Amino acid sequence: MTDPVPAPSVADRTGPVLVVDFGAQYAQLIARRVREAHVYSEIVPHTISPTELAERRPAGVILSGGPKSVHVEGAPEIDPGVYDLGIPVLGICYGAQLVAQQLGGTVANTGIGEYGRTELTVADRGVLFGSTMPDTQQVWMSHFDSISVAPEGFTVTASTNQTPVAAMEHVERRVHAVQFHPEVVHTPHGQQVLEHFLYDVCDAPPAWTMGSVIDAQVELIREQVGDARVICALSGGVDSAVAAALVHKAIGHQLTCVFVDTGLMRLGEGDQVVETFQKHQRIELIHVRAADEYFAKLSGVLDPEDKRKAIGELFIRIFEKTAGGIEDAAFLVQGTLYPDVIESGTATAAKIKSHHNVGGLPEDMQFELVEPLRSLFKDEVRKVGTELGLPDEIVWRQPFPGPGLGVRIIGEVTPEKVDLLQRADAIVREEIRSAGLEREIWQAFAVLPDIRSVGVMGDERTYGYPVIIRAVTSEDAMTADWARLPYDLLERMSNRIINEVDGINRVAYDVTSKPPGTIEWE
Ligand code: XMP
Repeated sequence: MTDPVPAPSVADRTGPVLVVDFGAQYAQLIARRVREAHVYSEIVPHTISPTELAERRPAGVILSGGPKSVHVEGAPEIDPGVYDLGIPVLGICYGAQLVAQQLGGTVANTGIGEYGRTELTVADRGVLFGSTMPDTQQVWMSHFDSISVAPEGFTVTASTNQTPVAAMEHVERRVHAVQFHPEVVHTPHGQQVLEHFLYDVCDAPPAWTMGSVIDAQVELIREQVGDARVICALSGGVDSAVAAALVHKAIGHQLTCVFVDTGLMRLGEGDQVVETFQKHQRIELIHVRAADEYFAKLSGVLDPEDKRKAIGELFIRIFEKTAGGIEDAAFLVQGTLYPDVIESGTATAAKIKSHHNVGGLPEDMQFELVEPLRSLFKDEVRKVGTELGLPDEIVWRQPFPGPGLGVRIIGEVTPEKVDLLQRADAIVREEIRSAGLEREIWQAFAVLPDIRSVGVMGDERTYGYPVIIRAVTSEDAMTADWARLPYDLLERMSNRIINEVDGINRVAYDVTSKPPGTIEWE
């Protein structure tokens, strides 16, 4: 390690805390925890060079955990030049071992790993453990190799039974490392450890709030679009709604929203979109009532893929026709979120203006994209929505597929079936809400299969449709589990649906997780 360079002053470190990704899910969680401490953070790939890193003027750098051992050939590394930039560094788990290895310490393959809850003994409070934390505390460990010897100049600040160097620091160089995971909830004092790094080592003020996000985006949107006209397709979903409200705050009447009412939305949803955006937010809104066109197009279409395709194509045609009538529209608002940006591997290219074709829109419709949410996680988008005055019904709306109820009606989609399903579905969601489960359940809805069965009501034989209730818990829709709804709640839903929706005489509950099922039925 060379002599420390003079550290850049706080005034020169006005950028985000950069979380270096070593290839697992850890980086996202760390970035979220940093943001929860009101410090803005972004994820960068470990291939970032010290020069590129310094250009971002980061308040600090966090090296995340990763799935590999530092001893494995091809294990991801960061250019050790980052330690000489004078920018504060915190290594976590794999990141801690990398700090040790790259700065001349020893990482040993002891054959004894630590997994799960582990007792940590703080020997020296140093900077990260502050003055209020207990000397022994529980931390979450997940490692196979251990740092056995800290690099020269480092003070060992904590250990465990199996790990002599569970935390270490070099205060002058502002390089810190912890073997445990401060970002997980199983490390009860973890957030405090992170906050000590952010506030006391990085000197980053806790100034990143949803209010500051809105102010910054308003400026950026104005700068990007000037006095041009901007359009936005509203779907009723939270992302497009918040994006539209944010752009509207920035440029007011320059924004026109297009809401294609397919007739395949949930009960009352179309009216609610119009009410919220036109009446309350006073956003210029073109409300295209296209239900008849959709039913005509879907007549006789039975195959799920054909249905999706038909619905998608019609949307594009209607949107194109409507947008074509808006003169000089040069920009299109997209509700892209940060996880999409990370997944597509373009995190560092976030500032590049895209001039490309979006969401299947025809080649000759060229828009520059306005993506005001591309640095935000979903829960942050919800907070921004609330701050912008959007109602809970929109901000906390559950995910809803683009093709709408079209993929929840098995077989041909007809106005009559949509009406039955909308009413049954409204009851399911109402009961979930009354039971206080709305935010716990990822999605809860009704499905209308293409069968009928015999029943009896008031001495009369019935021959009606069944409704299937689908309720799942999930983190990200990639996997899902069927929700263990209380029997009395299911009973209430069932009774109400059968009594209130004429034509439905049976209710079933879907107990399939994903995989092997999917959340939607088509
Ligand atoms: P599946 O059914 O594949 O759904 O388990 C995963 C998540 O995606 C939603 N979904 C869609 N969302 N357009 C969308 O915008 C679609 O075509 C679509 N299909 C499914 C679904 O509701 C669930 O949240």
